Amino acid sequence: MRHPDFQAQDRSLRKTGPSADGALSRLFDNHPVFMNEPVHRPTHQAAFRALAIHSPDALLSHCTQFAHEILDTLIEKQEVDLTNDYAFALSSRTWAWMLGAPLQDAGQLLAWANAIGALLAFSPAPGCQERASEAAANSWAYIEGLNAQKNAGGVFDITSAELRKIDVEGGPKDAAALLASLAFDAIDGAGGMTANFIYCLLSNPGQFDAARNTPLLISNGWQEAARFAPSLLGLFRCPAQDIPYEDVVFPAGVNILMLYAAGNRDPDFTPAPNEFNIQRPASFPLSFGGGPRACIGRSLAKIQGQAAVQALLERTKSIELLPHQPDWGPTGLMRAIRNIPVKLTGN
Ligand code: HEM
Repeated sequence: MRHPDFQAQDRSLRKTGPSADGALSRLFDNHPVFMNEPVHRPTHQAAFRALAIHSPDALLSHCTQFAHEILDTLIEKQEVDLTNDYAFALSSRTWAWMLGAPLQDAGQLLAWANAIGALLAFSPAPGCQERASEAAANSWAYIEGLNAQKNAGGVFDITSAELRKIDVEGGPKDAAALLASLAFDAIDGAGGMTANFIYCLLSNPGQFDAARNTPLLISNGWQEAARFAPSLLGLFRCPAQDIPYEDVVFPAGVNILMLYAAGNRDPDFTPAPNEFNIQRPASFPLSFGGGPRACIGRSLAKIQGQAAVQALLERTKSIELLPHQPDWGPTGLMRAIRNIPVKLTGN
């Protein structure tokens, strides 16, 4: 996956699934994952800088504050769904804050991200294309409007400062264009991973107790959850030329699905790979790809997931996972648990 000739998926080769119409196409065109050199590297770097504008400390303290605010209501309600009511509430609020958007718009940002994310199913549901397209157009207009206000008001956030203008020929025209393309990753990717982390802990009571008794394990625990149950199973890559590897050749010009999640379960990569064990020696999972195209959002996702679990453990005496049929959504590139029904007992 680090090979420089593994380039972006060739969208024109897609034979199945929804096509990218105007609004969606514009969104994809501005996402670094679909770019090749010479545009890819500087855009990747600009996106990385955009996310790094808030220091890890500021991010952690905001995520922690948001997690506690959300829990204030959830603990009162007692019976809640930790996927939608907590993990996605947190990821959408965090993204709204990072954009400098009003926090009350978080629910709308989440609805748009979900509509776009539904396209990652291998057999998208009827009407999915239209909903995704509408969401792409609306979220684009929203962020353009936000950018215009920020430009006028000069508020410091990721749509302002030096990122307003991105100087990459052939790349996104400004920070707003780039950030509009990242909303899905930031909300569904990070929120889905937080949900999966919480679910891994709750469905492995021994591991849950270990995290409760030794909060220092939470960081390692997130890493283990990202190996064991990543929210994104893989992505397509298209070799620029034939790439020989051991006794196979990855042929040029063919889209290849890189299933990082499967690699994580390879016993040569991780001993006892099918065990979720937050105490295994820390190693970096394959889930975020690697090399010049490695995920730029993994720290954001990690900080959020850690803050979510830390706050949940601090605020509760017990968390009872209620009987349910786990719903992992339609088969596709995303895999996030959609229902974590629990009964919370506060301290
Ligand atoms: C735990 C959640 C996430 C997972 C599992 C994940 C996974 C990945 C993977 C596998 C890649 C491709 C790497 C490669 O091809 O070598 C990627 C790329 C990327 N990710 Fe993530 N991601 C997550 C969260 C995020 C978040 C929160 C953001 C941004 C806010 C983000 C932004 C990106 C971008 C922009 C790229 C494209 C990088 C490039 O091609 O230059 N991701 N991610």
